[in-house]
Amino acid sequence: MLFDTHAHLNDSAFDPDRDTLIQGLPAAGVGHVMNVGCCLESSRDCVAMAETYPHIYASVGSHPDSADEVNQEVLDEYRMLCKHDKVKAIGEIGLDYYYEDIPRDIQQKAFRMQLELAQELQMPVIVHERDAHQDGLMIVKDFPTVTGVFHCYSGSAEMARQLVNMGWYIGFTGVLTFKNARNAVETATSIPLERIVLETDCPYMAPEPFRGKRNDPGYLFRMAEKLAELRGISVEEVENITTENAKRLYRL
Ligand code: NI
Repeated sequence: MLFDTHAHLNDSAFDPDRDTLIQGLPAAGVGHVMNVGCCLESSRDCVAMAETYPHIYASVGSHPDSADEVNQEVLDEYRMLCKHDKVKAIGEIGLDYYYEDIPRDIQQKAFRMQLELAQELQMPVIVHERDAHQDGLMIVKDFPTVTGVFHCYSGSAEMARQLVNMGWYIGFTGVLTFKNARNAVETATSIPLERIVLETDCPYMAPEPFRGKRNDPGYLFRMAEKLAELRGISVEEVENITTENAKRLYRL
């Protein structure tokens, strides 16, 4: 069974068929899903969904696009939500200089505040980092006891090796299956298999040949097939190893 380490099943794209889709995941080969919060409101939704479905876990946190909501009150609610036994990580948190909807200094402050919370609670984090490789690496280095996953990894293979040496995991989405995915492919072939986790980031980022469609955890087998091809091992081995990795990452 595969483990989708990053999904947004609370997204409105799933409104028409959410329950059927989630109930059908084990039959589609997906045993577990980490449903990731992006802001206070979606984090609350994620916790509620994790309470409803045994195979769904939750994370809570504010994405860089919602960095301006992060204050002591929001952190207090995250701290409280983290007491729930299905909440397994803080995220997604980080930096996004590609869209840069929120000024960089505010993104960095929110990222640091949430890393501090993870440090205090000794929980893993889910990092979203886009076009902010240097600052992202610099900030996580300030929190040496905090690790987790760099999701939808887009940095260099060299940076991934540094992160792995610091105890981090690297998450790959459907981007791995895209024709122009040179960076992701180079990284996925050059770091230890024990540090790789698979994710859909659904409803976005559907893998080939479904690119452009609504993504869902049922497409995760495509990432597993691609990784098996790149590493010269069987899909079953990829399944076993990446699922073990995900369980270690989220301490299940
Ligand atoms: Ni995401």
